[in-house]
Amino acid sequence: MTSNPDTSFPSSIERDDGPTRRQMLGASLGALAVGLVRLPASSQATSSTPWPKGLLGFEPMAPTAEDNVKVAKGYEADVFMAWGDPLAEDGPAWRPDNTSADQKLQAGMHHDGMVFFGDRNDDGSESSERGVLAVNHEYLDLGLLYENGVASHSQDNVIKAQSAVGVSMVRIHRDAQMKWHRDGGFKVDGNTPIDIGGPARGHKMMRTSGELFTKGEHVGISTHGTFANCSSGFTPWGTYLTCEENFQDFFKRTGEDKSVEEVAYGLGNKYGIPPGFHTRYGWDQFDGRYDLDRESSRNHGNRFGWVVEIDPRRPDKPPVKRTALGRFRHENAGFVIANDGRAVVYMGDDERFQYIYKFVSKNAWNPDDPEANWGLLDEGTLYVAQFEDKVDADGKGQAKWIALTPDNPILRERFGDDRGAIAIFAREAARLVGATKMDRPEWLVVPLHQGIGHPAPEVYCSLTNNNKRKTEQEDAANPRANNNFGHILRWTENDGDAAAETFTWEVFLRGGNAAHPEIEHRGDVPWQEPRQDFGSPDGLFLDRRGVLWVQTDVSSSTINQGVYKGLGHNQMLAVDPATKEVRRFLTGPAGCEVTGITQTRDGRTMFVNIQHPGERPDDTPSIPGAPLSRWPENEFGRPRSATVVIQRADKKDTRVIGE
Ligand code: FEO
Ligand code: CA
Ligand code: CA
Repeated sequence: MTSNPDTSFPSSIERDDGPTRRQMLGASLGALAVGLVRLPASSQATSSTPWPKGLLGFEPMAPTAEDNVKVAKGYEADVFMAWGDPLAEDGPAWRPDNTSADQKLQAGMHHDGMVFFGDRNDDGSESSERGVLAVNHEYLDLGLLYENGVASHSQDNVIKAQSAVGVSMVRIHRDAQMKWHRDGGFKVDGNTPIDIGGPARGHKMMRTSGELFTKGEHVGISTHGTFANCSSGFTPWGTYLTCEENFQDFFKRTGEDKSVEEVAYGLGNKYGIPPGFHTRYGWDQFDGRYDLDRESSRNHGNRFGWVVEIDPRRPDKPPVKRTALGRFRHENAGFVIANDGRAVVYMGDDERFQYIYKFVSKNAWNPDDPEANWGLLDEGTLYVAQFEDKVDADGKGQAKWIALTPDNPILRERFGDDRGAIAIFAREAARLVGATKMDRPEWLVVPLHQGIGHPAPEVYCSLTNNNKRKTEQEDAANPRANNNFGHILRWTENDGDAAAETFTWEVFLRGGNAAHPEIEHRGDVPWQEPRQDFGSPDGLFLDRRGVLWVQTDVSSSTINQGVYKGLGHNQMLAVDPATKEVRRFLTGPAGCEVTGITQTRDGRTMFVNIQHPGERPDDTPSIPGAPLSRWPENEFGRPRSATVVIQRADKKDTRVIGE
């Protein structure tokens, strides 16, 4: 599918209806710095002067609606590992009739967050040529996964599905020609034994009874599987943190006797369920663990919605659900070390009007003994963010971190002394203490060079969108009603310490359509040729030069149409944090989102995931043989999510990507 991007200068942008409250707020939040609001139309930036060479050294792309991955001039994007590709190059080849045994040896479906763990060279430096690539698999499209789509739902297909979720850990290397190879690896999937650590370990709400469950599950100290693995993070001791997001879609819960907490976590919601199914994936029909209407399985739902720590080099070591980090729809985990050596993890709960969290460990990490840090994330304090509803003349606001502990009288009244219950129902605890309801917190990132030690982190957080926010619900940190385009917040912790209990924030950049008739929905990227405006920021990555990479996840029902008309397919852009200059670097195929990004230490290879090409606008399972995208190869008429490798076309050019 190809169509011409709408790059003509829209007449609607000439309109100036005078300032509104939100425009003025937008201006005070820094929009003036990038030349947007309150300027007469004639003076808006429409310049076609050559692009200056600053932090961003590539030529910005126009939006596209081509069914392909396109990258900026001078770069190449090659498919490296698609769903179903064997982890070892000589493993079972991908075919729609692959069995569950095949799928166990192949990459899972719907790639998302990802981290490259470079091996150590002999001199102690980090290799850019060899290591482990950890790749999350977020969800399933049964129409593509099963040979005959949902019509062939069966017990063996449920096991195939359970082998297609979770995380792929793939050993990879780059040869002298800069070509990457897969050398095998292991999976942490929907049936891998996983331990439970932290305050919910052994909790009565983590216990299940009956023969479907193991002894460890009977007493709530272990479980099986991880799924809904959205994005991720990494620790300085070399482990992977995978984040469970929309776990509720995997469980049947139809009873009328749902608890307040089950409702709060969306268990038994009706989203995207194929005809004849109780849930999106139908696991409950062949695997009673996923039928929460059964009393004996009820608490299995409490074992999901966590951050899971995995050692990417130790398939023999059971991963651990780190329950001290709270249970919600986790997006990613942004890690930094506080001044006194304690571990700090930033996290978002991705649903409209949910919250931003921070975990601070009780003890300091041990830089000399990586193994000694396994368990560090089991003890500490979980905080939730509360933003003041005002900003100063520079657009800066204050916020505080509220500890979710029994020391808070509100939580003591509801949960008593039960720290496990606070962790399991962190969403409810956050609501009770009056945390600020955000516009879908997605990724929280800190610059790579700040990952360990000083200075105190500069944190970026994407708030992807919230079309349910009403005018009377606007606040300084979520300043737009009907927020279709989302925004990015930036903050620094006060007192120069990541463990601080207050921070100073600003609205860093508002997404928008520069051709929108209402000024506040044009966002902070001025009209220019080619246009660089975007909406629905989701994946974020700060590289070692400090470039902020932004990946978009516009809903399949809205891509390049309606208020998103002219903005093309989902994409990846680079932002210079000092100047707020935005340049589009990559555009994806039809119906995809762009999510997941990591780089080698030398900055010459970037891995990016293309998720759900051809996703149906109503998010129902694909119809086998009737694809809405032909990417990457249209083999067997099925699009496939895939990791792509991005490098300079000139392999002798050693400059980092984006320079
Ligand atoms: Fe998995 Fe919130 O995106
Ligand atoms: Ca996301
Ligand atoms: Ca998403």
